[in-house]
Amino acid sequence: MISIILSYNISMSFNQTLIKAPLMKNVQLGKDYFVSWFCAPEIISRINPGQFVMMESGQYLLRPFSVYEIKEDNIGFLYRVIGGGTSFLSRLQIGNIVLINGPLGKGFEFPKDKKIPILLVAGGIGIATFPIVARVASEKGYKVKTLFGARSQNDLVCAEQLKHSGELEVITDDGSSGRKGFVTELLTAELHKNKNQEVFVCGPTPMLKSVIKVCNEFGIIAQVSFEEYMACGYGVCMSCVVKSNGKYVRTCVEGPVMRSDMVTS
Ligand SMILES: Cc1cc2nc3c(=O)[nH]c(=O)nc-3n(C[C@H](O)[C@H](O)[C@H](O)COP(=O)(O)OP(=O)(O)OC[C@H]3O[C@@H](n4cnc5c(N)ncnc54)[C@H](O)[C@@H]3O)c2cc1C
Ligand code: FES
Repeated sequence: MISIILSYNISMSFNQTLIKAPLMKNVQLGKDYFVSWFCAPEIISRINPGQFVMMESGQYLLRPFSVYEIKEDNIGFLYRVIGGGTSFLSRLQIGNIVLINGPLGKGFEFPKDKKIPILLVAGGIGIATFPIVARVASEKGYKVKTLFGARSQNDLVCAEQLKHSGELEVITDDGSSGRKGFVTELLTAELHKNKNQEVFVCGPTPMLKSVIKVCNEFGIIAQVSFEEYMACGYGVCMSCVVKSNGKYVRTCVEGPVMRSDMVTS
């Protein structure tokens, strides 16, 4: 099935494409977690790991979703069902069509020196952005390790998949898998072993703040992916701003991946 390009103008001016994409497959990964796969070759050809799309989700506004993986012409999004949009997506049938606008924002930048290991630090559904990052980094020859913190064993989705691209260490709030505790404990231990690593982070805001604090203690500038509320996703509504060096920046355009030393609140 071929997706239909709706707006060539948008594609030209912002390097993004608004398409109508058919659902190819919905895979349930565990209670409340799904991966929805859509046919979207026009978007796939321009994706950098860490970028996102805005997707029609049965709500008034499109919803932002990180690119989880790509396979041939198909693009996958991993999500946890928490509200109207994610519930809508989880109930789609094969062949149903949704609008997808992307790829959007800035992804992660791999270090120039391939000897520098890449350390991925994920909290909760923040893991959704990392399978493609881990796979591409490992294919490029980087050593990759993922530290994954989740509430419980049931929330450790796609852990097996991440092991194909490198090492994986998990920690849970309730101790049901791995150690009991927070991902910052794994990060501190890891940086004590080697602080010459490129740190990529994605997760809920309190976790991001804690991770940045640990990185600061080690003198490390991390690349942090922010999941602020977004309305338009391409820079016009200002609903997604965060403070950076005294001025406001849009996480949908200047991010979602930003250097930790650029973000003050
Ligand atoms: C750049 C970016 C990438 C994202 N990638 C993913 C992804 O890969 N997988 C995924 O599951 N979600 C992702 N999200 C969040 C996603 O866009 C939706 O907001 C979320 O899935 C809830 O949508 P909903 O319509 O089901 O819930 P809603 O009905 O909108 O909300 C349900 C509850 O979740 C809270 N909530 C909604 N959105 C957010 C948010 N962004 N931050 C904090 N709390 C929120 C609401 O306040 C409410 O309490 C991303 C967000 C951004 C900005
Ligand atoms: S979401 Fe509209 S400017 Fe960022």
